[in-house]
Amino acid sequence: MEQPIKRIAVFSSGGDAPGMNAAIRAVVRTATYNDLHIYGIYRGYEGMINGEIERLETSHVANIIHRGGTILKTARSEKFRTPEGRKLAYESLVAQDIDACIAIGGNGTFTGAQIFSQEYDIPFIGIPGTIDNDLYGTDFTIGFDTAVNTAVEAVDRIRDTADSHNRLFFIEVMGRHSGYIALYTGIGSGAGFVMLPERETTIQEVIQQLKAGAKRKKLFSLVIVAEGHPLGGAQAIADAINQEFDYYETKVAIIGHLQRGGSPTAQDRVLASQLGYSAVEGLLAGQRNVMVGQVNEDIVFTDFNDSIQQIKVFNPDLLRMAEILGL
Ligand code: F6P
Repeated sequence: MEQPIKRIAVFSSGGDAPGMNAAIRAVVRTATYNDLHIYGIYRGYEGMINGEIERLETSHVANIIHRGGTILKTARSEKFRTPEGRKLAYESLVAQDIDACIAIGGNGTFTGAQIFSQEYDIPFIGIPGTIDNDLYGTDFTIGFDTAVNTAVEAVDRIRDTADSHNRLFFIEVMGRHSGYIALYTGIGSGAGFVMLPERETTIQEVIQQLKAGAKRKKLFSLVIVAEGHPLGGAQAIADAINQEFDYYETKVAIIGHLQRGGSPTAQDRVLASQLGYSAVEGLLAGQRNVMVGQVNEDIVFTDFNDSIQQIKVFNPDLLRMAEILGL
């Protein structure tokens, strides 16, 4: 029979996302409320392997709800991909008598947790923390809202200078495999066109759209490009378009890691608090090796297999709307 859960560990892993600290705070406080001992693992799976584990008290998480980044640091661990690395990680957890882990991260983090939980008897609960919003089993991931707000603010500024000079801007946002940030940034900033990894767009299509705009006397234009677009990033696409269409003077802006930092929005703080709290409560209620998410405002638990393998698809009507409104 499984031992009752008494000592749990929390860690963040993969790319950091604004709101991770709010999730850590919620986990620590909910665990303490339930008389659990709570430990923090530093630098994700890397720290788990090296035994970088420390007892956390509620005072450790005071004054962090508004801070970007993660107080537990984060890493991408190559060693944890190997059976030897995972064995060392298990030994570190056993040395501290850890009964269960709460992992805050994205697809790679949960893939690691899923493999580990098949090999060893320490259950995991995942909390979706990534700016990409690419995890099945939750409407939104922690950090997405902040990243989009940062990108929209940046595009607003670019809009001013693009308008003043009558220029065409290709603005690259993050999202290696997912176009969520690009789509929401495009809609939120009123961009003319969005280019997503999930949707094939040819250079000719973009040129046609730009020509149509020019014909309607559109004096400047903004195109949002997800970094993972199959035609390449914003620079590659701008270069290809420049060769065939020189109506506008073209500029490129890459927003990059600005999107990963900064104080989380209220929406991200609330989501992170709910998911952190629900992860601990779920664990105590018997949830094992699942990701906690929020769908239609309800808390749901999704098996790691599904959250990792199932593809989250955005509402295609949003893309249609972005195209119509960008005319
Ligand atoms: O997965 C989050 C993310 O920010 C992606 O959007 C981006 O492609 C990637 O991480 C960049 O990762 P890093 O800066 O850690 O190499």
